[in-house]
Amino acid sequence: MDYNHIQFCLDKSKIDLQQLKRLFEVGAFWAKDRTIEEISIAIKNSNPVVSVWKQKKLVGFARATSDGVYRAAIWDVVIDPECRGQGIGTKLVETVLAHPLVNKVEKVYLTTTNQKSFYQSIGFQVNTTNTMVLLNQSDTESVPLLEESTLQEKTY
Ligand SMILES: CC(C)(COP(=O)(O)OP(=O)(O)OC[C@H]1O[C@@H](n2cnc3c(N)ncnc32)[C@H](O)[C@@H]1OP(=O)(O)O)[C@@H](O)C(=O)NCCC(=O)NCCS
Repeated sequence: MDYNHIQFCLDKSKIDLQQLKRLFEVGAFWAKDRTIEEISIAIKNSNPVVSVWKQKKLVGFARATSDGVYRAAIWDVVIDPECRGQGIGTKLVETVLAHPLVNKVEKVYLTTTNQKSFYQSIGFQVNTTNTMVLLNQSDTESVPLLEESTLQEKTY
């Protein structure tokens, strides 16, 4: 494919949150109701974050979380419906996988409802046996944490 009119961007600060909210609304059924505030927090806490641009229009997005050595997970992969089927989604996922925070980890996870064959064509395998999920309760009591200064005092 000729990517001349399509640009892949790793700079989070370039992401237009309004455009990303729209992209989720038209292209990502699991993320249709997300607010700008929530999206902004997710981007802040993710690395790498890859956006895809056709001139000034945001047409693709994916983000990952990673410990840099053992495990990484890819989230929110989406291509604008008008731009699908041209290889852009493949290139988007490959860009995430090539990032230094992802390309050395032992295992890269993702969850998908309808796109197994898309990810298989990139090299992912179906993994049904050992994944668990906690549907987090917002009223879960947090564990009291020691302040950093308290930890230092305890060391001596
Ligand atoms: C999944 C998605 C990101 C793929 O993006 P894309 O740019 O269309 O993907 P590509 O053009 O690189 O397609 C790669 C291959 O998958 C196939 N493919 C992609 N999307 C497909 C679809 N919706 N239906 C059938 N085949 C599809 C392509 O035909 C192509 O196969 P080929 O290489 O044999 O020709 C895009 O369809 C999308 O945004 N879907 C909605 C959101 C979604 O489900 N994201 C994944 C969440 S985990």
